[in-house]
Amino acid sequence: MTRISVIGTGYVGLVSAAGFAALGHDVIGYDIDEQKIATLESGGCPIYEPGLEELLAEGRASGRLRFTADLGAAVAASDVVFVCVGTPQADDGTADLTQVEAVARDIAAHMTEGTVVVEKSTVPVKTAQWIRRTIELCGGRGFSVASNPEFLREGSAVQDFLEPERIVLGVADEQAREALLDIYAGIDCPKVVVDIETAEIIKHASNSFLAMKISYINMIADLCEAVGADVRQVAEGMGLDSRIGPKFLAAGIGYGGSCFPKDVRAFMRIAEQHDVNVGLLDETDRINEARVARLVARMRNDLWNLKGKKIALWGLAFKPGTDDVREAPSLRLARQLHAEGAILTGWDPVARETFLRAVGELPVEICDSPQDAAAGADAVIVVTDWPELREVDLASVAGRMRSPYLFDGRNWLDPEACASAGFWYRATGRPGVETVPGQAS
Ligand SMILES: NC(=O)c1ccc[n+]([C@@H]2O[C@H](COP(=O)([O-])OP(=O)(O)OC[C@H]3O[C@@H](n4cnc5c(N)ncnc54)[C@H](O)[C@@H]3O)[C@@H](O)[C@H]2O)c1
Repeated sequence: MTRISVIGTGYVGLVSAAGFAALGHDVIGYDIDEQKIATLESGGCPIYEPGLEELLAEGRASGRLRFTADLGAAVAASDVVFVCVGTPQADDGTADLTQVEAVARDIAAHMTEGTVVVEKSTVPVKTAQWIRRTIELCGGRGFSVASNPEFLREGSAVQDFLEPERIVLGVADEQAREALLDIYAGIDCPKVVVDIETAEIIKHASNSFLAMKISYINMIADLCEAVGADVRQVAEGMGLDSRIGPKFLAAGIGYGGSCFPKDVRAFMRIAEQHDVNVGLLDETDRINEARVARLVARMRNDLWNLKGKKIALWGLAFKPGTDDVREAPSLRLARQLHAEGAILTGWDPVARETFLRAVGELPVEICDSPQDAAAGADAVIVVTDWPELREVDLASVAGRMRSPYLFDGRNWLDPEACASAGFWYRATGRPGVETVPGQAS
């Protein structure tokens, strides 16, 4: 059993804290956001993540999981401190590491000799060196720094944490190596033990590669549209090659979320600082940035003017299974359609509040069901591939719309079913299907 503190109880920190407790460790979670800690202390859960509430409840009941607003007490009572704070994008695309620096200073003020400080946040290579230097500058002595990048995905974060495909441990000394291997002893998967810089690069290189795969298939989708081919079949034909694999080959509205966009840019910036040509990633980012504008342009081609048209956004979260809307395509889409004079409605099973907070003043009427959002609308856009959308009675939706037009931004619905229901169906990288209203079969 290791005494662990987790600093920052967001998506990564909270799942990690509950996961470490499930592995039998004694865990204290701390966050600078007192409201979050109050929610956690009173038995609540500040985010939506499948299975997390149950895991938190188990941890609390076992007595191995606590939360505190007292950083000093948390750090002083721990052998290993995991840093899980945010590393958002700065204006120039680099990672803003001020939260990490602040935590390093705080840790220095409270840690005891022998503490292992582990960066779990996604950070550019060499960040651990800055953490070490900061702690030393603030008087810390006799400690280790290590890197343990996190690969969990929102929506399946609990399972990803407890049953990962690999665990990456970047260490510079035996003490950190042993401490981390002990912590993860209960998880049976390959453990990649490397030096710290290598571990830091593995995380950025992995996310950038996945983003590149998505932009690649989106580029292919544009070609498919131009020549009348079907990108889903192209992806299937490609993905059966085990050297390529079928995952991350879904063409659509592009990647979003709190990781891929910022991680690709941070990786580019750190590589540029070391004189490495990043044209490949630059293009990955550019293709992704253009996805929403391309979708809107295609809608304009079909619907003529968007001004005054009522458009329903089906799905607001950046992907299904989460309430996270950070860098979600829904936000960019809402802003662009609003700028063109469209009137917006939206529906999402869990991201309603987070979307409204993020979208601010922009008027979007959030509805309780996809049907309500589409009532009287001129167009529906599938923005998030929520499974619920496959259960919708499409014919009744089409019947309640002013013009039954559906743009499937995720290639999520069955084109023939949409056409049979009376929709003009548009997809990404595959032929659309049109049914003249009134002639639906
Ligand atoms: N969300 C993901 O799917 C995911 C997956 C892998 C890695 N990551 C990385 O993990 C890190 C955290 O991501 P997240 O999604 O959990 O972010 P988040 O914004 O949900 O959580 C960060 C938390 O840190 C807290 N915090 C900020 N400054 C603090 C301070 N000085 N002391 C204590 N707490 C502080 C915030 O209040 C917040 O609760 C990022 O680097 C991210 O790139 C995220």
